[in-house]
Amino acid sequence: MEIKKLMVIGAGQMGAGIAQVAAQAGLEVILHDLSDEFVDRGLGVITKNLSRDVQKGRKTADEKQAIIGKITPSTDLNAAKDADFVVEAIVENMDVKTSLFKQLDEITPAHTILASNTSSLPITEIAAVTKRPEKVIGMHFMNPVPVMKLIEVIRGLATSDETYRTVAELSAAMNKTAVEVNDFPGFVSNRILLPMINEAIYCVYEGVATPEAVDEVMKLGMNHPMGPLTLADFIGLDTCLYIMEILHEGLGDSKYRPCPLLRKYVKAGWLGRKSGRGFYKYE
Ligand code: CAA
Ligand code: NAD
Repeated sequence: MEIKKLMVIGAGQMGAGIAQVAAQAGLEVILHDLSDEFVDRGLGVITKNLSRDVQKGRKTADEKQAIIGKITPSTDLNAAKDADFVVEAIVENMDVKTSLFKQLDEITPAHTILASNTSSLPITEIAAVTKRPEKVIGMHFMNPVPVMKLIEVIRGLATSDETYRTVAELSAAMNKTAVEVNDFPGFVSNRILLPMINEAIYCVYEGVATPEAVDEVMKLGMNHPMGPLTLADFIGLDTCLYIMEILHEGLGDSKYRPCPLLRKYVKAGWLGRKSGRGFYKYE
C-alpha cells in the first residue's frame, strides 16, 4: 500500500525523531500533540537536528527547509482523517494508548494503518480495542531516531501480512532496517536491554559502585557507546520504570522487579535528561 500522509501522535523525543525521518523519506507529515507548546518543542528539536546536518555539509539549507515544509503541526486529532498511516508515540501507559487507538479507529479512513511505538506494551491488546486489528502493528523506533538503524516491528496476533509488508517498505524508505518479532512483553530489545539497566541501578542502590564507575565499567570494559545509567537518563527514567513493570507483570518472574531506587527517582520527578536530573544533572 502506498503511504502519502503519515501522522505522528506525540511530539516528544521519539515523536519528533519519527516525524523527521518520515519527512526526510518524502512523506507529508502531521505532527500532533496535546498543546502548541509541545508541538513547537518537537519542531524545535527537528530544526536543530537538520541545522547540524547543514553545518556538517550533509544537507543544503534548501533541503532543510523542504523537509521542515513537509511537517504540519496539529493539536486537533481530527487531522487523522487524512492520514494513510499513524504512528503513536505518547506516554507508555496502556489506558492512555487504548483510549487514543479507539478515537483513531473512529476518525481515520478504513485503509489507514495504526502503528504504536510502544517500548513494551502488548500490540494484540492495543489492537483489540479497534475494529481493524489486522491493520494494527508495533513499529518500535530506537532513540535517537535519526541515528539508530533499527526498527523492531511487532506483529500482533491479528496483524496481516499486508500490514507487515507496508511497514517493512516504509522502514526501508526511512533508511532503517526492520526486524520482525512476535508480541511478548518488552519484545526483544527491551527484554534484554532493560534488565541490564535495572541491574546497573541495583549496583548503585546496593553500594557496589557510583553511577560514574558503573558507566565506566560498561563503556571501557564492554565497548558500550553509553554507560547503562547515562542511557537510562537518555531514555527517561519514567519510561524505564514503565517497561520494567510491564516485564514484571507480563512475564511473572521476580528477576524483572524494578529496583526501588528507580521508583524513588521517578516519584521525585527525577526523570533523567528530560527533567534535568536523573543519575546525573543536566543543564
Ligand atoms: N538526535 C539526533 N542526532 C543525534 C543525537 C540526538 N539526540 N545524539 C547524537 N546524535 C548524532 C550526532 O549529531 C552525531 O552525528 P554526526 O557526528 O554525524 O553529526 C552522532 O549522533 C554521534 O554523536 P556524538 O558524536 O555526539 O556522540 P556519540 O558518538 O556518543 O553518539 C549516540 C551518540 C549515537 C547516541 C551513541 O552514544 C549511542 O549509540 N548511544 C546508545 C543509544 C542507544 O542504545 N539507543 C537505544 C536506546 S533504547 C530504545 O531506544 C528503545 C526503548 O524502547 C527504550
Ligand atoms: P516523551 O515524554 O518525550 O513524549 C511523549 C509526548 O506525548 C509528550 O510530548 C506528551 O505531551 C505527548 N502526549 C501524551 N499523551 C498524549 C495524547 N493523549 N495525545 C497526544 N500527545 C500526547 O516520551 P518518549 O520518550 O518520546 O516516548 C514515547 C513513546 O515511545 C513511549 O511509548 C515510549 O515507551 C516509546 N519509546 C521511547 C524510547 C525512549 O528511548 N525514550 C524509545 C523507543 C520507544
